Amino acid sequence: MKSFYVTTAIDYVNGSPHLGHAYEKVLTDVMARFRRQLGDSVHFLTGVDEHGQKVQASAKQRGIPPQQFCDEVSQEFRALLPKLDISNDDFIRTTDERHKRVVRAVLQQLFDMGEIYKAEYRGFYSTRQEQFLQEKDRNPDGSWPELFGEVTEIVESNYFFKLKQYQPWLVEFYEKHENFIFPAFRQKQVVEFLKEPLNDLCISRPRERLEWGIPLPFDEGYVTYVWFDALLNYYSAVADKPGIWPATWHVIGKDILVPPHAVYWPIMLHAAGLPLPQGIVAHGWWLQRGAKMSKSTGNALNPLDLVAEFGADAFRYFLIREMNVGQDSDFTREQFLVRYNSELANNLGNLVNRTLNMTTRFAAGNVPDADAAAEDELEKNLRALWSRTRDEFIPLCEGFQFHTALERAMVFLTETNAYIEKRAPWKLGKSVEAKDQALLRTALATMAEALRLAVALIQHVTPASSAKINAVLGYTPGAVWRDELNWDGRLAGRKVEGALVLFPRPAPTEKTPAAKA
Ligand code: ME8
Ligand code: MG
Repeated sequence: MKSFYVTTAIDYVNGSPHLGHAYEKVLTDVMARFRRQLGDSVHFLTGVDEHGQKVQASAKQRGIPPQQFCDEVSQEFRALLPKLDISNDDFIRTTDERHKRVVRAVLQQLFDMGEIYKAEYRGFYSTRQEQFLQEKDRNPDGSWPELFGEVTEIVESNYFFKLKQYQPWLVEFYEKHENFIFPAFRQKQVVEFLKEPLNDLCISRPRERLEWGIPLPFDEGYVTYVWFDALLNYYSAVADKPGIWPATWHVIGKDILVPPHAVYWPIMLHAAGLPLPQGIVAHGWWLQRGAKMSKSTGNALNPLDLVAEFGADAFRYFLIREMNVGQDSDFTREQFLVRYNSELANNLGNLVNRTLNMTTRFAAGNVPDADAAAEDELEKNLRALWSRTRDEFIPLCEGFQFHTALERAMVFLTETNAYIEKRAPWKLGKSVEAKDQALLRTALATMAEALRLAVALIQHVTPASSAKINAVLGYTPGAVWRDELNWDGRLAGRKVEGALVLFPRPAPTEKTPAAKA
């Protein structure tokens, strides 16, 4: 069995989870479920990043100890996962003992190898980004970009990791691994970044300035830099589970690609003698009116509100259908409703209703056998479309083009509904001629089969709805997913339910203009 280890970024717990965090979990979940379907041995990790200045400050503001603060907010992040139907195998907190132990061991190892040294540091520091700045980070007018928030000058002794000496190695690594970063244009940006000389990485903070972190094992007067701590979560979570490391994909947002994931992380692993992951998937941002949704700007949407209103599957479907992985997307309620109504309620929902209604009305609720002799162009065309859809769908998902894959699935559903219009079973039902009755049985079998197949295709995006639809079709899918994608009329003889309400029309509210059907 092929091992597939996939991770999300671990979220800072200095505020509540928003739509951007939810998206990353859903995207990674869709990847994980897809690989499980293909038969891989999947390990899916997510978690929270609990150390650092921002968390310490947020706890102080609340007037509670940082650990208590982390316990509360981490719980909020963790509670989101089942609400989004996330199938993670593990959840790591950077305050877990298992994590701290590994971070300290790696630091000690690098220190013993002479990869870490102490020196005086003078420079500018951004608390918001938890990062030391360089002259080249300034705006042309000498000010610091808004992104960094408040910037302060600092002079102190610190420990440094010898990053710079690995620059030629990393440049060569990217030459040899052209597809390390998805999408490819992001790898080009990393290669550009590496044309400028790297500095050694300051990996400590004196405890007087930052108490809330993992103490350096070789000097307890310091805690380790949050990124050095956070990145190691991917490894610490599986360090004692044989056969999982290295990761297959790290799924992260584009804001934390360069330098942490694309520069620090490969070098840290290489220096520590650990194998590198297969690659990094860097997704884009959810925006609102063009601005990044974020905790600090106050334009964040609470994913739980949308889930409460429309259900987890509709939420998951929208995020995956709307976003081209790697690009940004503007979130609007209008666009959400357009897709909800036209693709889920009309396209999928109508096919479910028609299949259940007509099977009940014209076949006493039992899916008939298709009559091969009765089939003509309409049926043949739909089957041919199915074959093309299935054959394109899998490689699209393998290449993270989930939005296009879903679009293809929707075309198949649209065409299935169009088939029903043309075949008009309600007319055939009025005829007593044997030929019409054979065609009617074939039509009912065809729509049920098309529905079963479409549902199997999109089940990694809409797991709960897919399971519900299978249940009302009286069907339990087999263990081998690829076999589920064969058009073979296996529903014949199944007893279907009379009705299923999957995607009810939302009541128009002030915020919700009555959507065009
Ligand atoms: O960066 N749209 O945590 P974080 C899409 N702790 N994704 C978004 C987003 C948006 N509007 N806003 C944030 C951190 N994200 C570190 C990570 S990993 C070892 C340490 C994504 O809470 C962001 O890109 O600021 C990141 O991948 C994740 O949410 C957590 O962001
Ligand atoms: Mg952030």
